[in-house]
Amino acid sequence: MRDLIKIINKKRNSSDKYELASLFHNNTELNTVNIKEHAKQIEEYYNEGDYKPLNYPYSEKIDLPKLSSGYKNIQRVVTNRRTKRDFSSSKKLSLKKISNILKLSYGNRGVEEKTLSTVPSAGAIYPLHIYLISLNTELKDGIYHYYFENNFLDSISEKNLNEKELEELIITRGIKGKIPLYMVITADLRNLCSKYGDRGYRFALLEAGHLGQNILLTAESLNIGAVPFGGFYDKNLAKFLSLNYEYNKAMYIIGIG
Ligand SMILES: Cc1cc2nc3c(=O)[nH]c(=O)nc-3n(C[C@H](O)[C@H](O)[C@H](O)COP(=O)(O)O)c2cc1C
Repeated sequence: MRDLIKIINKKRNSSDKYELASLFHNNTELNTVNIKEHAKQIEEYYNEGDYKPLNYPYSEKIDLPKLSSGYKNIQRVVTNRRTKRDFSSSKKLSLKKISNILKLSYGNRGVEEKTLSTVPSAGAIYPLHIYLISLNTELKDGIYHYYFENNFLDSISEKNLNEKELEELIITRGIKGKIPLYMVITADLRNLCSKYGDRGYRFALLEAGHLGQNILLTAESLNIGAVPFGGFYDKNLAKFLSLNYEYNKAMYIIGIG
C-alpha cells in the first residue's frame, strides 16, 4: 500500500509511464513459491462454491429471434471451438499450419497502405508480440518471434525443452501428451503507456484477449486444436524467452497442435 501511495504521489512529475501497471503486473505474478497459495485459493473456490450470479429476477424477459440463416461458417467456428487438452498424437505441426494461424490471427491485413493487423489495437500501436516455443513442429525446436508487419519469423534461439523444464515455465496440469507449439503473447508497454499512461495496461490486457481469441478461432476454423493458458511462471518465462521483464510482459499463452 505504501508503495502504491508513493507511486501515485510521484506520478505527477514522473516520466515513468507504466509504474502502476508494473506494480499490478509484478504483484500478480506466479512463481514456484506462491503457486501453492494460488492453488489453495482455487481449491477453496470450488469447495465453498463461492459463486455470485448476476441476474435480474424481476425484469421482463424478451425472447430473441432464432439465428438468421446465412451465418453457417461463423456459427460453426464459434460453436465448435473447445479447449483441447489431449495432445497424444506425435505428429509434427506443419509450418504451413503455423503460418496460416499467425497470418490470419495477427498478420498485416495488407489492404490499406499503412500496417494494420487483423487484431484491433488502441491507437494502432500494436504493443503485442507473439513468441513461439516449438517443441514438435517442422521448425527446429526453439524460440521464434513473429514479425507481423511483414509476416516472417525471427529465429531467436535453438533450445530443446524437456518435460521438467517446461513445467517450470507453464502450468500444464490436466494436459495429456505433448503440446507441439506454444504461442506466447507478450505486451511491450513502452509506446502504449507513453501514450495512454498506466491505463495502457488495460488496453494490453484487452488486446491480448482479442489476439488470443483470434488464434483460438483461427485454429478451430483450420481444424487445429488449441488450449489457452493463464497460468505460467512470469519471471521464469521472461528469462527463457530473453524478454526485458521491465516492459515486455507475457500476458497469455495458447498451446497449439
Ligand atoms: C484467461 C484464460 C485462462 C485459462 N487458463 C487455462 C489453463 O491454465 N489451463 C487450462 O487447461 N485451461 C485454461 N483455460 C481454458 C478454460 O478452462 C476453458 O476455456 C473453459 O473451461 C471453458 O471451456 P471451453 O474453452 O472448451 O469452452 C483458460 C481460459 C482462459 C480464458
